[in-house]
Amino acid sequence: MVNLETALYITATGRTYSDKNREIEIVGNKDYEEAARLIRDATRAVAFTGAGISVESGIPPFRGENGLWNKYDPATFDISYFHEYPSHSWEVMRDIFYELFGRVKPNAAHYILAEMEARKLIHGVITQNVDSLHHDAGNKTIHEFHGSLRKLLCLNCGRLTKVENVDLACLPPKCVKCGGLLKPNAVFFGESIPGHAHRAAFGEADKADLFIIVGTTGEVAPANMIPRLARENGAKIIEINTEPSSYTDFVTHIFLQGKATAVLEQLMQTIET
Ligand code: APR
Repeated sequence: MVNLETALYITATGRTYSDKNREIEIVGNKDYEEAARLIRDATRAVAFTGAGISVESGIPPFRGENGLWNKYDPATFDISYFHEYPSHSWEVMRDIFYELFGRVKPNAAHYILAEMEARKLIHGVITQNVDSLHHDAGNKTIHEFHGSLRKLLCLNCGRLTKVENVDLACLPPKCVKCGGLLKPNAVFFGESIPGHAHRAAFGEADKADLFIIVGTTGEVAPANMIPRLARENGAKIIEINTEPSSYTDFVTHIFLQGKATAVLEQLMQTIET
């Protein structure tokens, strides 16, 4: 027999999920009803998103099958590498992100989170993503924990320039004002998290009574601490992912397994019934 907390840990696949510690009977739509009830009753719900929410927009995840880190060396995104080899680091970023950027659009999952904010079902979004698709979908309160690739920062004068105003044909790009080296305004490995985003995101871990995690492995610190702290502070945790993550067993209360678009669409339908 499982305790109440574990019984709340449900998945939508109808498969029996078991491990050496516990046996859980899976109950289909009940999971959506319970998640919908938590969202309706929450006083302050926050979405916490990772690369998985943008996969259906055509941006590959970082890890797992088809993960970017299978094809590209993550060391290329280390700040010391960028300072030493700015041209090569830029070439890789241009190939991975900037080539894609003009083409990718938000998907239904992004739009549903924007609608949930507009309808005050969620207070805002904390995202690890640097693709600005939550902006494009219409969310207003967005904490970009890892910054954004949409703006370039001059490492000399600190000026921010929109990427669309910079010619990425000649790399590395330079600041039009002072000629300094431009760097994407995203957090590279080895860099600290922007103060305002760090304060805002960890602030939500204190205040929120519900977190909706969408599409993250939860493997990268310090971002991965945010849902854990929220749970420790008493928040309920709904998780949406195609696969169990490092949160699923000990942080998540309700696990909705599936693609972000399909799961959020079904969840919104359940909230409305
Ligand atoms: N719907 C929902 N979840 C999905 C989907 C989908 N369509 N496709 C993939 N996923 C899940 C995967 O199962 C995986 O758990 O999304 C997750 C993607 O994990 P990662 O690639 O590790 O991305 P993320 O957790 O956001 O990475 C964190 O690592 O590389 C750094 O700075 C980078 O912000 C990034 C951080």
